[in-house]
Amino acid sequence: MSAFSAEWLALRERYDAEARNPNVLDTVAASLKGLHSIRIVDLACGTGSTLRALGPRLAAPQNWRLADNDLSLLGRALAMPRTNNIAVEGVPLDLNRDLEAVLDGPVDLIVTSALLDLVSDVWLERLVVETVTRSIPVYAALSYDGRIELGPTEPLDAAVTAAVNAHQTTNKGFGPALGPVAGAAAIAKFEKLGYSVVHGASDWVVGPSDRDMQLEIFSGWASAAREIGDVSLADTVSWLTRRRDLVANGRSSIRVGHVDFFARPTTTR
Ligand SMILES: C[S@@+](CC[C@H](N)C(=O)[O-])C[C@H]1O[C@@H](n2cnc3c(N)ncnc32)[C@H](O)[C@@H]1O
Repeated sequence: MSAFSAEWLALRERYDAEARNPNVLDTVAASLKGLHSIRIVDLACGTGSTLRALGPRLAAPQNWRLADNDLSLLGRALAMPRTNNIAVEGVPLDLNRDLEAVLDGPVDLIVTSALLDLVSDVWLERLVVETVTRSIPVYAALSYDGRIELGPTEPLDAAVTAAVNAHQTTNKGFGPALGPVAGAAAIAKFEKLGYSVVHGASDWVVGPSDRDMQLEIFSGWASAAREIGDVSLADTVSWLTRRRDLVANGRSSIRVGHVDFFARPTTTR
């Protein structure tokens, strides 16, 4: 599975949904309570997992502008079953080039998930400045924060996870990626410009019975380690074989650290 394939997004959605920080989600929902209708922009929507996670928590009619540069994912997002009080509009665009275009017009909330760790510091600054200038609140979920816990531990875990974190900072289309520091960097930038930020952990908890998810994570990490090149092919293969054996025997577990935040203006528009 590739990094943004529909299959991978479908596999991870259950773990994302369970991981989303409930306090942050509740704060987002509470902040929108007075509105009669809500206009939301979802940056890098994929197949629409944030709409599925947040939409049902909002009582008012919603209009979602779903933006992504992958037409196949966008098509799936637009085709998802939804309730009558939710309208969707698809915006196919490259957020690296055309971020400002998708923010045009009245917007009550910007949302994004599993995007900020892919972007550069320059792009993140642009996002923060563009949203603060427009006084729009931002809910950003599931930014990877560099924490990986494996049970039981194996020789080479540390070398492979170090390579994974190095791979996280390679260019994903927005310039050198922030990777593990993205969430903290975004929170600091919003606070510096006067936003108030509620944040909390949203870790994936992948248990011994979650074999498909574990196998996919370990394969992805092995590929990332090989691309970085610090772990030899032989060591990567033997590490992957040992981890797969643990999964097959129902003995493996993984926790992957993420952070969610909700940043909002402290003054009303
Ligand atoms: C890890 S996926 C997350 C998708 C979705 N938000 C979710 O949580 O399931 C990253 C998403 O970013 C989109 N993406 C990556 N680079 C992009 C770009 N330059 N412009 C627009 N979307 C982009 C991908 O197509 C993909 O849908």
